[in-house]
Amino acid sequence: MTARRWDSALYEAQHRFVSRLGEGLIDLLAPQAGERILDLGCGTGHLTQQIADSGARVTGLDSDAAMLRQARANYPRLRFIRADGQDFQVDAPFDAIFSNAALHWMPDAQGAAACMARALRPGGRLVAEFGGAGNVHRLYEAFSAALRDLGQPEPERFPWYFPAATAYSALLEAQGFQVLAAQLFPRPTPLEGEDGLRNWYAMFLGEQLERLDTADRERVLDACERRLRPTQWRDGHWIADYVRLRVVARLREGP
Ligand code: BEZ
Repeated sequence: MTARRWDSALYEAQHRFVSRLGEGLIDLLAPQAGERILDLGCGTGHLTQQIADSGARVTGLDSDAAMLRQARANYPRLRFIRADGQDFQVDAPFDAIFSNAALHWMPDAQGAAACMARALRPGGRLVAEFGGAGNVHRLYEAFSAALRDLGQPEPERFPWYFPAATAYSALLEAQGFQVLAAQLFPRPTPLEGEDGLRNWYAMFLGEQLERLDTADRERVLDACERRLRPTQWRDGHWIADYVRLRVVARLREGP
Protein backbone atom coordinates (compact mmCIF):
# COMPACT_ATOMS: atom_id res chain seq x y z
CA MET A 1 0.00 0.00 0.00
CA THR A 2 1.35 3.48 -0.83
CA ALA A 3 2.65 5.13 2.32
CA ARG A 4 1.44 8.60 1.40
CA ARG A 5 -0.92 10.21 3.90
CA TRP A 6 -3.47 12.70 2.64
CA ASP A 7 -4.76 15.85 4.32
CA SER A 8 -8.42 15.31 3.47
CA ALA A 9 -9.50 18.63 5.04
CA LEU A 10 -7.07 20.65 2.88
CA TYR A 11 -8.15 18.60 -0.11
CA GLU A 12 -11.83 19.36 0.51
CA ALA A 13 -11.19 23.04 1.23
CA GLN A 14 -8.79 23.96 -1.57
CA HIS A 15 -8.61 21.19 -4.14
CA ARG A 16 -12.20 20.48 -5.13
CA PHE A 17 -11.14 21.50 -8.65
CA VAL A 18 -9.62 18.01 -9.01
CA SER A 19 -13.07 16.39 -9.01
CA ARG A 20 -14.69 19.31 -10.86
CA LEU A 21 -12.25 18.79 -13.75
CA GLY A 22 -13.07 15.10 -13.74
CA GLU A 23 -16.76 15.68 -14.40
CA GLY A 24 -16.30 15.61 -18.21
CA LEU A 25 -14.80 12.17 -17.84
CA ILE A 26 -18.12 10.88 -16.50
CA ASP A 27 -19.77 11.82 -19.82
CA LEU A 28 -17.17 9.66 -21.53
CA LEU A 29 -17.91 6.81 -19.14
CA ALA A 30 -21.65 7.15 -19.89
CA PRO A 31 -22.71 5.10 -16.86
CA GLN A 32 -25.94 3.15 -17.26
CA ALA A 33 -28.49 2.33 -14.58
CA GLY A 34 -27.71 -1.00 -12.95
CA GLU A 35 -24.12 -1.21 -14.19
CA ARG A 36 -21.45 -2.20 -11.68
CA ILE A 37 -18.75 0.46 -11.73
CA LEU A 38 -15.52 0.79 -9.77
CA ASP A 39 -14.22 4.30 -9.04
CA LEU A 40 -10.51 3.63 -8.63
CA GLY A 41 -8.80 6.22 -6.41
CA CYS A 42 -12.12 7.79 -5.41
CA GLY A 43 -10.67 10.28 -2.91
CA THR A 44 -13.45 12.08 -1.04
CA GLY A 45 -16.15 10.53 -3.23
CA HIS A 46 -17.62 13.45 -5.18
CA LEU A 47 -17.32 11.77 -8.57
CA THR A 48 -18.40 8.42 -7.09
CA GLN A 49 -21.67 10.10 -6.14
CA GLN A 50 -22.07 11.67 -9.59
CA ILE A 51 -21.65 8.24 -11.18
CA ALA A 52 -24.20 6.81 -8.73
CA ASP A 53 -26.65 9.54 -9.79
CA SER A 54 -26.96 7.69 -13.11
CA GLY A 55 -28.41 4.67 -11.30
CA ALA A 56 -25.20 2.67 -11.62
CA ARG A 57 -24.05 0.63 -8.62
CA VAL A 58 -20.73 2.20 -7.76
CA THR A 59 -17.96 1.16 -5.42
CA GLY A 60 -15.30 3.72 -4.50
CA LEU A 61 -11.83 2.35 -3.79
CA ASP A 62 -8.98 4.30 -2.21
CA SER A 63 -5.87 3.45 -0.22
CA ASP A 64 -6.02 6.43 2.11
CA ALA A 65 -7.94 6.13 5.39
CA ALA A 66 -8.51 9.89 5.84
CA MET A 67 -9.86 10.31 2.31
CA LEU A 68 -12.22 7.38 2.82
CA ARG A 69 -13.42 8.72 6.16
CA GLN A 70 -14.33 11.95 4.39
CA ALA A 71 -15.92 10.07 1.47
CA ARG A 72 -18.11 8.06 3.86
CA ALA A 73 -19.07 11.23 5.75
CA ASN A 74 -19.92 12.98 2.47
CA TYR A 75 -21.89 10.08 0.99
CA PRO A 76 -22.96 7.59 3.68
CA ARG A 77 -25.19 5.63 1.28
CA LEU A 78 -22.36 4.71 -1.09
CA ARG A 79 -20.04 1.73 -0.79
CA PHE A 80 -16.36 2.53 -0.26
CA ILE A 81 -13.53 0.07 0.25
CA ARG A 82 -9.95 0.60 1.33
CA ALA A 83 -7.38 -1.08 -0.88
CA ASP A 84 -4.15 -0.41 -2.74
CA GLY A 85 -4.92 0.30 -6.40
CA GLN A 86 -1.74 -1.56 -7.36
CA ASP A 87 -2.69 -4.72 -5.53
CA PHE A 88 -6.37 -5.41 -5.08
CA GLN A 89 -8.95 -8.07 -5.82
CA VAL A 90 -12.69 -7.84 -6.15
CA ASP A 91 -15.42 -10.36 -5.34
CA ALA A 92 -17.29 -9.99 -8.62
CA PRO A 93 -16.16 -8.37 -11.87
CA PHE A 94 -17.23 -4.83 -12.77
CA ASP A 95 -18.77 -3.60 -16.02
CA ALA A 96 -16.53 -0.53 -16.00
CA ILE A 97 -13.67 1.09 -14.15
CA PHE A 98 -13.48 4.86 -13.83
CA SER A 99 -10.42 6.66 -12.50
CA ASN A 100 -9.75 10.38 -12.24
CA ALA A 101 -6.44 11.93 -11.11
CA ALA A 102 -5.37 8.78 -9.30
CA LEU A 103 -3.25 6.50 -11.49
CA HIS A 104 -0.25 8.87 -11.33
CA TRP A 105 -0.02 8.04 -7.61
CA MET A 106 0.56 4.37 -8.44
CA PRO A 107 4.18 3.87 -9.51
CA ASP A 108 3.58 0.14 -9.97
CA ALA A 109 1.58 0.86 -13.12
CA GLN A 110 1.84 -2.72 -14.30
CA GLY A 111 0.40 -3.95 -10.99
CA ALA A 112 -2.44 -1.43 -11.27
CA ALA A 113 -3.19 -2.44 -14.88
CA ALA A 114 -3.16 -6.15 -13.98
CA CYS A 115 -5.59 -5.52 -11.10
CA MET A 116 -7.87 -3.47 -13.36
CA ALA A 117 -7.90 -6.25 -15.96
CA ARG A 118 -8.78 -8.84 -13.30
CA ALA A 119 -11.51 -6.59 -11.87
CA LEU A 120 -13.36 -6.18 -15.20
CA ARG A 121 -15.65 -8.58 -16.99
CA PRO A 122 -14.57 -9.45 -20.57
CA GLY A 123 -15.64 -6.50 -22.75
CA GLY A 124 -15.72 -4.21 -19.69
CA ARG A 125 -14.44 -0.70 -20.18
CA LEU A 126 -11.80 1.48 -18.58
CA VAL A 127 -12.17 5.26 -18.66
CA ALA A 128 -9.30 7.04 -16.93
CA GLU A 129 -7.57 10.38 -16.79
CA PHE A 130 -4.40 11.21 -14.92
CA GLY A 131 -1.12 13.09 -15.18
CA GLY A 132 0.83 12.31 -18.35
CA ALA A 133 4.37 12.96 -19.56
CA GLY A 134 5.45 16.50 -18.66
CA ASN A 135 2.78 17.00 -15.99
CA VAL A 136 3.65 19.67 -13.38
CA HIS A 137 7.16 19.86 -14.80
CA ARG A 138 7.61 23.55 -14.00
CA LEU A 139 6.15 23.28 -10.51
CA TYR A 140 8.37 20.34 -9.67
CA GLU A 141 11.50 21.93 -11.18
CA ALA A 142 10.94 25.10 -9.16
CA PHE A 143 10.60 23.02 -5.99
CA SER A 144 13.75 21.01 -6.67
CA ALA A 145 15.72 24.17 -7.51
CA ALA A 146 14.57 25.86 -4.28
CA LEU A 147 15.73 22.85 -2.22
CA ARG A 148 19.07 22.79 -4.08
CA ASP A 149 19.63 26.51 -3.52
CA LEU A 150 19.08 26.02 0.21
CA GLY A 151 21.59 23.19 0.29
CA GLN A 152 18.80 20.75 1.15
CA PRO A 153 18.76 17.28 -0.38
CA GLU A 154 16.38 17.02 -3.31
CA PRO A 155 13.47 14.61 -2.91
CA GLU A 156 14.79 11.04 -3.21
CA ARG A 157 12.60 10.29 -6.15
CA PHE A 158 9.97 11.78 -8.32
CA PRO A 159 6.85 10.68 -6.47
CA TRP A 160 4.56 10.30 -9.48
CA TYR A 161 4.08 8.20 -12.59
CA PHE A 162 3.45 10.37 -15.66
CA PRO A 163 3.65 8.15 -18.77
CA ALA A 164 3.51 9.02 -22.46
CA ALA A 165 0.42 7.85 -24.36
CA THR A 166 2.30 5.19 -26.32
CA ALA A 167 4.00 3.70 -23.28
CA TYR A 168 0.77 3.53 -21.28
CA SER A 169 -1.16 2.04 -24.19
CA ALA A 170 1.47 -0.69 -24.56
CA LEU A 171 1.24 -1.42 -20.85
CA LEU A 172 -2.55 -1.79 -21.02
CA GLU A 173 -2.42 -3.91 -24.18
CA ALA A 174 0.01 -6.27 -22.43
CA GLN A 175 -2.66 -6.84 -19.76
CA GLY A 176 -5.35 -7.75 -22.30
CA PHE A 177 -6.90 -4.35 -22.99
CA GLN A 178 -7.74 -2.96 -26.40
CA VAL A 179 -6.93 0.74 -26.23
CA LEU A 180 -9.56 2.76 -28.08
CA ALA A 181 -8.13 6.20 -27.34
CA ALA A 182 -5.10 7.56 -25.50
CA GLN A 183 -4.69 11.28 -25.68
CA LEU A 184 -2.09 13.49 -24.00
CA PHE A 185 -3.04 17.16 -23.73
CA PRO A 186 -2.03 20.22 -21.71
CA ARG A 187 -4.58 21.46 -19.21
CA PRO A 188 -3.29 24.62 -17.52
CA THR A 189 -5.21 24.52 -14.25
CA PRO A 190 -6.03 27.60 -12.15
CA LEU A 191 -5.36 27.19 -8.44
CA GLU A 192 -7.64 28.84 -5.93
CA GLY A 193 -6.59 32.12 -4.32
CA GLU A 194 -3.40 34.11 -3.74
CA ASP A 195 -1.98 31.17 -1.79
CA GLY A 196 -2.95 28.66 -4.43
CA LEU A 197 0.61 27.70 -5.29
CA ARG A 198 1.66 27.33 -1.64
CA ASN A 199 -1.45 25.24 -0.98
CA TRP A 200 -0.67 23.04 -3.95
CA TYR A 201 2.83 22.31 -2.60
CA ALA A 202 1.44 21.74 0.92
CA MET A 203 -1.13 19.31 -0.45
CA PHE A 204 0.95 17.36 -2.93
CA LEU A 205 4.54 17.70 -1.68
CA GLY A 206 3.64 18.07 1.99
CA GLU A 207 5.86 15.23 3.14
CA GLN A 208 8.93 16.83 1.57
CA LEU A 209 8.03 20.20 3.12
CA GLU A 210 7.50 18.67 6.55
CA ARG A 211 11.14 17.61 6.63
CA LEU A 212 12.16 21.29 6.70
CA ASP A 213 12.00 23.64 9.67
CA THR A 214 9.46 26.45 9.49
CA ALA A 215 11.93 29.06 8.22
CA ASP A 216 13.28 26.85 5.43
CA ARG A 217 9.77 25.81 4.45
CA GLU A 218 8.85 29.46 3.96
CA ARG A 219 12.08 30.08 2.02
CA VAL A 220 11.30 27.21 -0.34
CA LEU A 221 7.72 28.37 -0.93
CA ASP A 222 8.81 31.99 -1.43
CA ALA A 223 11.47 30.86 -3.91
CA CYS A 224 8.92 28.77 -5.84
CA GLU A 225 6.58 31.76 -6.08
CA ARG A 226 9.40 34.05 -7.26
CA ARG A 227 10.58 31.59 -9.86
CA LEU A 228 7.12 30.73 -11.19
CA ARG A 229 5.44 34.14 -11.11
CA PRO A 230 6.57 35.16 -14.63
CA THR A 231 5.04 32.09 -16.28
CA GLN A 232 2.43 30.70 -13.87
CA TRP A 233 0.67 33.78 -12.46
CA ARG A 234 -2.08 35.07 -14.70
CA ASP A 235 -5.13 37.27 -14.17
CA GLY A 236 -4.98 37.11 -10.40
CA HIS A 237 -4.29 33.42 -9.88
CA TRP A 238 -1.68 30.72 -10.10
CA ILE A 239 -1.79 28.23 -12.94
CA ALA A 240 -0.50 24.67 -12.50
CA ASP A 241 1.09 23.22 -15.64
CA TYR A 242 -1.05 20.09 -15.74
CA VAL A 243 -0.80 17.68 -18.67
CA ARG A 244 -3.47 14.99 -18.79
CA LEU A 245 -3.46 11.53 -20.27
CA ARG A 246 -7.00 10.41 -21.06
CA VAL A 247 -7.52 6.75 -21.86
CA VAL A 248 -10.50 4.71 -23.04
CA ALA A 249 -9.95 0.97 -23.28
CA ARG A 250 -11.91 -2.25 -23.33
CA LEU A 251 -10.91 -5.61 -21.91
CA ARG A 252 -10.59 -8.07 -24.77
CA GLU A 253 -13.17 -10.86 -24.77
CA GLY A 254 -10.95 -13.53 -26.21
CA PRO A 255 -7.26 -14.18 -26.87
C1 BEZ B 1 -2.30 15.87 -10.99
O1 BEZ B 1 -1.89 15.86 -12.14
O2 BEZ B 1 -3.50 15.79 -10.72
C2 BEZ B 1 -1.32 15.98 -9.91
C3 BEZ B 1 -0.07 15.50 -10.10
C4 BEZ B 1 0.85 15.58 -9.10
C5 BEZ B 1 0.52 16.16 -7.94
C6 BEZ B 1 -0.73 16.64 -7.79
C7 BEZ B 1 -1.66 16.56 -8.75
